[in-house]
Amino acid sequence: MKNQKKILVTGGAGFLGSHLCKLLVSEGHDVLCVDNFYTGNKKNLEELRDNPLFEIIRHDVTFPLYVEVDEIYNLACPASPVHYQHDPVQTTKTSVHGAINMLGLAKRLNAKILQASTSEIYGDPEVHPQTEDYRGRVNILGPRACYDEGKRCAETLFHDYHIQHNLRIKIMRIFNTYGPTCIPTMAGWFPILLFRP
Ligand SMILES: NC(=O)c1ccc[n+]([C@@H]2O[C@H](COP(=O)([O-])OP(=O)(O)OC[C@H]3O[C@@H](n4cnc5c(N)ncnc54)[C@H](O)[C@@H]3O)[C@@H](O)[C@H]2O)c1
Repeated sequence: MKNQKKILVTGGAGFLGSHLCKLLVSEGHDVLCVDNFYTGNKKNLEELRDNPLFEIIRHDVTFPLYVEVDEIYNLACPASPVHYQHDPVQTTKTSVHGAINMLGLAKRLNAKILQASTSEIYGDPEVHPQTEDYRGRVNILGPRACYDEGKRCAETLFHDYHIQHNLRIKIMRIFNTYGPTCIPTMAGWFPILLFRP
């Protein structure tokens, strides 16, 4: 297919990631899903099981990964408080080490990379609705910090890779998203888009 890309989706067996994998395969792209199945499930990807455009690897993004792709969507991270507070150290590692590993891979391959960030980077905001330049009111020691601070650090890393290494990055701050039939599109999935180099 003309314009077919090899695309890595980390966290591809999760709620949003599995919809994204299906969307990208339906567009004719060659999709590699990487997931450690902490909250994700192969059943979410059942319909892609025999599709030659789709592959799945069990892997934890806190460890380096060596694959050849054109684009990376970095979604790996448990999103629900019950799950991310169960092992807070692993949650921070997933965001921070995961970002470092995926950014390193993107740099080596000169691949575009997208980070699934969150409205939680605003903490408990005094401003509604939040604008992109609002810096938030965060609690670095609270039970949500492993998620919020991990995502904040990941944004910093993405931004610095863009500034320092001219890496093509996108950061999407996703607000609460739910529903089994939610179909994400690049235009309508997330309300805030940052850094579109
Ligand atoms: N759903 C929302 O409302 C929402 C809001 C803001 C941000 N987000 C972000 O979007 C992304 C996807 O969220 P979701 O709702 O699909 O969550 P989810 O928990 O359904 O999916 C996360 C996926 O990441 C995988 N994962 C977790 N740790 C991993 C690791 N160390 N290595 C490899 N895979 C790992 C899980 O197994 C799962 O498949 C997350 O980064 C989340 O922070 C989601």
